[in-house]
Amino acid sequence: MTTRRARIAGTGFHVPERVVTNHDLEALMDTSDEWIQQRSGVVERRYCSGDETPADLALRATEQALESAGLEPRDLDCILLATLSSQHEFPGTSFFLQKRLGLEDTPCMDLRAQCSGFLYGLTTANALVRSGQYNRVLVVGCEVHSTGIDLTTEGRDVAVLFGDGAGAVVVEANEDPDDAAGILECRIHAQGEFAEKLWLEFPSSGHKPVRIDAEVMAQKRHFPRMEGRFVFKHAVTRMPEVLRQTLSSASLKLEDVDLFLFHQANLRINEYVAGQLEIPAEKCLSNIQRYGNCSAASIPILLAEAAAEGQLTPGTLVCMTAFGSGFSWGSVVARF
Ligand code: UT7
Repeated sequence: MTTRRARIAGTGFHVPERVVTNHDLEALMDTSDEWIQQRSGVVERRYCSGDETPADLALRATEQALESAGLEPRDLDCILLATLSSQHEFPGTSFFLQKRLGLEDTPCMDLRAQCSGFLYGLTTANALVRSGQYNRVLVVGCEVHSTGIDLTTEGRDVAVLFGDGAGAVVVEANEDPDDAAGILECRIHAQGEFAEKLWLEFPSSGHKPVRIDAEVMAQKRHFPRMEGRFVFKHAVTRMPEVLRQTLSSASLKLEDVDLFLFHQANLRINEYVAGQLEIPAEKCLSNIQRYGNCSAASIPILLAEAAAEGQLTPGTLVCMTAFGSGFSWGSVVARF
């Protein structure tokens, strides 16, 4: 009997050209390169410029992913785009990407699970492909944070962390009994109890008579807010927990994993998690130094960089783990 698996067949990423260093931010707010590096690991990030949109970033990442999989846009059966910074409140970003790909009726949807969004997307794509519903699903993580953060001293605790970027993968059916490549296990979780610990309150359809007004904006409640220490504590508990759960469900040991890709929220979180699990530093990839926190895009960008550097050779076992607003968290283990 053939087992139908879903494998990651191609990867791609794109970040804007414009580099914004910690020193650049020192000119906008009361912060320092030293504080930012010590607390988070971020050295610089990319911001969109001119009329660059989320769909532009997503398109470039998708084109690379399709090329590396040897596919054309028309080969895609479905598009899932994870984002917390959609191009428009509705219909989101994926519809603009679909149009830019020249596709006429390929189903697409935005998926909202914040920093865990890409792993929620992979979990969904895995189920869609394994069930036989689709053969090829594009999963994109895409964020433009630079237009939605408070670049003054008041917003510094959040603003210095984030950057813009997009990463994409093609998830494809694999029915070859001689090819072990595939997504082996996915675990996702959520805890709405803490939704307000890291959130963007406005615009809100619960706010009357209109979703946002001058008063709300004067209070800066249209910028993201976070209880940093609270989020940090939950991240360092949930990430090892879900990672162990996922590996154990796949009957794998920590030592079996070749590469660990953690969400790039904070280098200290990832060092702490790796330390708790006794994972050697060389098995953990990071790019937060160069791109900051790109939320749903962080893990697919890491993955595409690993592929570009030749690290995803056949047989490589990769474990991806994220935690973010919602709270949402998850882990996916895949063989290449
Ligand atoms: O991606 C989704 C998940 N997100 C996360 O997992 C993020 C989790 N949290 C964190 O990474 C950390 O909590 C932060 C990096 C956000 C903050 O680090 P922290 O060590 O928890 O700092 P803190 O918020 O406790 O602030 C310490 C001090 C405060 O000053 P006082 O009250 O001690 O005088 C802040 O006002 O640092 C101050 N501060 C800053 N100083 C310079 C806050 N932001 C800045 C800044 N530059 N950008």
